[in-house]
Amino acid sequence: MKNIVVLVSGGGTNLQALLDAQEKGYFSNGRITCVISSNPEAYALTRAKEHGIATRIIAPNSYLSKAQYSRTLLEALFQEYVDLIVLAGFMTILDAQIIHAYHNQIINVHPSLIPSFCGSGYYGLRVHEKVLERGVKYTGATVHFVNEIADDGPIILQKPVAVAQDDTPKTLQQRVMREAEWVILPEAVRLFCNDQLEIKGRRVNIIEEQIRTGGAL
Ligand code: GAR
Repeated sequence: MKNIVVLVSGGGTNLQALLDAQEKGYFSNGRITCVISSNPEAYALTRAKEHGIATRIIAPNSYLSKAQYSRTLLEALFQEYVDLIVLAGFMTILDAQIIHAYHNQIINVHPSLIPSFCGSGYYGLRVHEKVLERGVKYTGATVHFVNEIADDGPIILQKPVAVAQDDTPKTLQQRVMREAEWVILPEAVRLFCNDQLEIKGRRVNIIEEQIRTGGAL
């Protein structure tokens, strides 16, 4: 059974999708053991508590330096015996120390089809504003492993979403969440916990689920 820690900063609708999936028994080989928020006011904390999940607040602006913040976060992750770290609307860039300590054990959900509309400065509603400005007809969401460069790690799953002519950044954000993020994030967590993800360089292969016979052949 893998221990999953979810890092959040805001509303936590992606966290909610994970909590709902967990309650439906979707993660047979993993369980969310803790939610860590960078923001004491995040509604995500209420969602976690409502589901009986332990919470911690580790806010970057409560520390004198980024290094001190990172050491505290790393210590918390060790204490949780974490196997999988999920960045679900987490708005702080993790430093290299944490990324190296949990190499290929950190996944992030991003609200666009990477490598479009991603990297430094592309987060939250801003991504959808840029999508509308550029006039693309399709956007979507991506779940990927985290490396040292923002939104650059190996891609696990993507799902496209059509842009409507009358979309505003808000309506587009909602549709991308509902049709893509809340679908592919739980699916990526399930695949990771089942050891069905094989990383080959920048590519991630999905290994077919083993059919368990439960007895001798
Ligand atoms: C989500 O759309 C997530 O993909 C995005 O912020 C939103 C958080 O919503 N994350 C990023 O932009 C990170 N680069 P939530 O708190 O309701 O899950």
